[in-house]
Amino acid sequence: MTQINSVELHNITKHFPGVRANDRVSFDVRAGEIHALLGENGAGKSTLMKILYGLYQADAGEIRVNDQPIKIKSPTDAMRLGIGMVHQHFELVPVFTVAENIALGLRSSREPMTDLDVVGKRLVALGEQYGLRVDPNAIVWQLAVGQQQRVEILKALYRDAALVILDEPTAVLTPQEVDDLFVTLRKLTDTGHALIFISHKLHEVMKISDRVTVLRDGRVVGTVATKDTTQKDLARMMVGRDVVTAWDKPECQSENAVLRVEKLSALSDKGLPAVRNLSLQVCANEILGIAGVSGNGQRELAETIAGLRRAESGSVVVNGRDLTNRTPAEIIASEVAFIPEERMTMGVIRDFTVQENAILETHANAPLSRHTLFDFRAVQTHTRQLVREYDVKTPTLDTPVKALSGGNIQKLILARELARQPKLLIAAQPTRGVDIGATEYIHKRLIEQRAQGTAILLISEDLDEVLALADRIAVMYEGEIVGIVPPNTPIDDLGLMMAGAKRGAS
Ligand SMILES: Nc1ncnc2c1ncn2[C@@H]1O[C@H](COP(=O)(O)OP(=O)(O)O)[C@@H](O)[C@H]1O
Ligand SMILES: [Mg+2]
Repeated sequence: MTQINSVELHNITKHFPGVRANDRVSFDVRAGEIHALLGENGAGKSTLMKILYGLYQADAGEIRVNDQPIKIKSPTDAMRLGIGMVHQHFELVPVFTVAENIALGLRSSREPMTDLDVVGKRLVALGEQYGLRVDPNAIVWQLAVGQQQRVEILKALYRDAALVILDEPTAVLTPQEVDDLFVTLRKLTDTGHALIFISHKLHEVMKISDRVTVLRDGRVVGTVATKDTTQKDLARMMVGRDVVTAWDKPECQSENAVLRVEKLSALSDKGLPAVRNLSLQVCANEILGIAGVSGNGQRELAETIAGLRRAESGSVVVNGRDLTNRTPAEIIASEVAFIPEERMTMGVIRDFTVQENAILETHANAPLSRHTLFDFRAVQTHTRQLVREYDVKTPTLDTPVKALSGGNIQKLILARELARQPKLLIAAQPTRGVDIGATEYIHKRLIEQRAQGTAILLISEDLDEVLALADRIAVMYEGEIVGIVPPNTPIDDLGLMMAGAKRGAS
């Protein structure tokens, strides 16, 4: 391994059209430490690291490795200097084996023949050393996400990376896998590696890092030693003010469920079983959280309840009415609201204006429409009120929705859906890709809606969100509910359930 003692970024500035992604950012990392880069979505973390890895060129600023100013023009340059990066979205070739992926782009030791056996042996040895066990002969697409991530880390280590940049590595992992990853990261620093750990999750940063640099709007807010700071301080630095993260939770007050799902089965887009004989119920004044690793049938469950996907068997009953396989229009008319996971394709019509989107679903009802004619004044007043009340930042009511940020689109959808005073709200990944300010706002609104009596089915891959909001947590694994547990369940137990290893009391 080429020794890296220190890497320093000085006053890095980077513009994209209309955005200053990095504004005179200085940051450094040393051998043997984990330096966390913390910030909300869009704060500029990935951009800064892509500059260090040679994927982007800075407009201004300097990079020094071991006190020497250097230019990094490409990832090849970065790799030669001993800098490796594990991206947020993996870059493995799915149909290749693990060893083939590792060998890709490297010279074989016995050219022109391949030396995959040699690669495999060294991989196994590296895996043993750092707790990253994978089968070199496994085909990548057959591996679980957590294992693919190991391959990415091994790929960097195989290329002798002395500094490894990990961009939001825990986003795709179960809590148990996060623990395993953290063990590996400590083994890496023990052997003199330097690590940059990107995250927007405060408790992870508190747990694993030695130092933290907080970015906000492309600027450094500060760099602190982890042992000298608190989660609360970091949150304040990240958002610029105090953040509320826990709310009082009233108990489920009704014995009569608003939503009753019984023995429901549905298929995925590929025609495979995605929801398997699943039953659950949600009461008025209650949030039932569905936790699970992405791709375990959560999306299909939400779509089936909302009438966007066929139920193969079983039933969906809302307020005593059987809505199984009814049309979305009929379901909406039954006081069911839906915040879809795919908000840009299912939640809004991108090219329509804010005003048009605000009345999508309700446009046929009085008072917005009388005798099949729109009452434009009523529509405008209604929209203006929603936009104000839900703090949707838009230049005008006639701005096309596609020009708004993710957080504002989500607030608009929320406004539209909640304005109907639904009896049941299905919220699928309501804050994914949304900044922390909007997230906090959306959380408050969900809590308020619960207090007003709405039954809420919250589907989220963000365990922190489920823990903060849900009155009960149902863990979904391979299309089934493997257990329903209270929100004070230890996170490790939830993790085991999410990985299919443990059943909770249900
Ligand atoms: N390739 C790009 N082209 C244009 N804008 C970009 C590009 N990459 C990032 N941005 C913008 O730069 C800002 C910072 O983004 P990013 O570095 O991805 O933030 P983070 O990783 O902290 O979420 C955002 O406003 C984002 O929209
Ligand atoms: Mg990023």
